[in-house]
Amino acid sequence: MTTYSIDVTLSQTKKEKPQSDQLQFGKVFTDHMFIMDYTEGQGWHDARIVPYQPITLDPASMIFHYGQSVFEGLKAYVTKKEQVLLFRPDENFKRLNKSNDRLCIPHVDENLALEALKQLIKIDREWIPTAEGTSLYIRPFVIATEPYLGVAPSDRYQFIIILSPVGSYYKEGIAPVKIAVESEFVRAVAGGTGTAKTGGNYASSLKAQQLSDSKGYSQVLWLDGVERKYIEEVGSMNIFFKIDGEVVTPSVNGSILEGITRKSIIELLKHWDMPVTERRISMEEIKQAYSEGKLEEAFGTGTAAVISPIGELFWNNEKMVINDGNTGEVSQKLYDTLTGIQNGTVEDPFGWAVEV
Ligand code: COI
Repeated sequence: MTTYSIDVTLSQTKKEKPQSDQLQFGKVFTDHMFIMDYTEGQGWHDARIVPYQPITLDPASMIFHYGQSVFEGLKAYVTKKEQVLLFRPDENFKRLNKSNDRLCIPHVDENLALEALKQLIKIDREWIPTAEGTSLYIRPFVIATEPYLGVAPSDRYQFIIILSPVGSYYKEGIAPVKIAVESEFVRAVAGGTGTAKTGGNYASSLKAQQLSDSKGYSQVLWLDGVERKYIEEVGSMNIFFKIDGEVVTPSVNGSILEGITRKSIIELLKHWDMPVTERRISMEEIKQAYSEGKLEEAFGTGTAAVISPIGELFWNNEKMVINDGNTGEVSQKLYDTLTGIQNGTVEDPFGWAVEV
């Protein structure tokens, strides 16, 4: 086994930790962070864990001008036996490198990234919250740091990992959310950056998000960017429907983010021998199923969102209230099983949970 050299400087002061049962999403950060630099010709170097602190960048750094950056999101949990578990972290670092490819950023060594993350979590272990529905959210990201205003891949980068104790992503908690279908703006098209986890995808989603917020909806549901007919994904999660006994989700098509929770849910449903299909789904089909009483459940999946039941869809000035606005049976079973595997209370037949 390779051992990586990661320099550690511990913080002299400890910040006050928030109350576990009052946590929001992504507002507070732990005492330490991981950081590593890339310089062309030298590769990645100076891997280090340091006290959590602001970073100083030249104002000409390319990240500020052309948005060359990628990020990931995963979570750590403490079990009743005091073990710390990560959920499929190898998948996150694999996807980070796929995003890096798309954004012309050099690959990060996936084993080094995992080792660095484990060391960082061990140092900040006391920050992992224990109240129900909470976890330690992990945000690895890469930014382009070369000071240059030409449009080209940067020759310098920083790879950083920060940690944040979190509660539910939505203010509704795990209660069903209301989603508005977006008909004016689009998120991505095949050939663009939709499958990469890059900040620009989220920046361009803000306008539609702001408008849907003002109408009382938690998120928008994106349709395909060409015909504006087919369902893609929700702001921060992939989407599933249960129609007449079958679970369906949009197939990955070059513009949808290939969620790790999405993949795990498909694997879980197959493991239970429940019908699950990845295919193109139009809004017309959803409307039709709704009017025939066949739209039984809808839910979103994501690291931050976990399994978020959808209680209402708004499309073409009409409301579709799903399962009387309540959490469906399959959504609840998936939530219980997934979170159980993640926090060690449910047996993990897949080997998804990785001990720190
Ligand atoms: C995640 O689920 O981890 C994400 O990256 C979504 C984020 C935009 C909150």
